[in-house]
Amino acid sequence: MAQLIGGLGTSHVPTIGVALDRGLADTPEWKPLFDGYIPAKKWMADHKPDIAVVIFNDHGNAFFLDQVPTLALGVSDTYKPIDEGWGPRDIPDFRGADDFAWHFADKLVENHFDPLICREIDVDHGLQVPMELFFGRPDVWPVKIVPVFINTIQYPIPTPQRMWDLGRVLRQTIESWDTDEKVVVMGTGGLSHQLQGSRAGFINKEADQAWIAEIGDNPEKYRNMTREDYVETFGSEGAELIMWLVMRGCMDAAVNTVHTHYFSPASMTGTGMIILENKGS
Ligand code: DHB
Ligand code: FE
Repeated sequence: MAQLIGGLGTSHVPTIGVALDRGLADTPEWKPLFDGYIPAKKWMADHKPDIAVVIFNDHGNAFFLDQVPTLALGVSDTYKPIDEGWGPRDIPDFRGADDFAWHFADKLVENHFDPLICREIDVDHGLQVPMELFFGRPDVWPVKIVPVFINTIQYPIPTPQRMWDLGRVLRQTIESWDTDEKVVVMGTGGLSHQLQGSRAGFINKEADQAWIAEIGDNPEKYRNMTREDYVETFGSEGAELIMWLVMRGCMDAAVNTVHTHYFSPASMTGTGMIILENKGS
């Protein structure tokens, strides 16, 4: 049986990738953000996962508003990073865990989730940036990925409870995967931000810090919130945080919060990170 070795949460702000591309990571503006990820990179280097299941949203790059799947799953053995307008990125293609991904597809349908199955799809900053934050800039990514695309772009977005349930199916998938591979699950997006409308620029530091402090030990609070509560508390794009609930739902009820980081603002976004381990592990 494969082993779930950790649940990670992180923001996925696109300018983080641009800062890395332009060699700005050690500048006074960016260093505090990147320094917070040093323990996370060490955790990854120490734990050496084989597979990273990355829960994220596409931002109009692989899908556009003409076709928005609520849930899509990559089953490819390779994924290309999308150029979002700052120029082609000098990062390697991502290797896909296609065998595990097909097993996940099967478990999803068995449990009444019906994903769009993507044999070929490119990935935007929602996946690229978390990989860079946790693994740096390697010549070859040290893990295979399974991209899970959630619609947080166009209403109606899925409910927090649905994200939790998806996490439970992912857990079942890992536990019925007959290899000794080590799996991490990454929930990405957030923290508070709003990129549009009359509240553009909205950040809620208090709510962000509470999220980081509580998501390990008190996830029920966040699972019981409505989608509207997310938009009100974290901003229209801060509602991306629902994707961390897939990761949290995948973990045990009792977890240890082993690393956290919060920095604000980066771009117009509260930026945070968490690493959880199951208490029994
Ligand atoms: C921005 C975009 C994102 O997708 C996100 O999650 C946070 C910030 C941005 O464009 O600033
Ligand atoms: Fe985003």
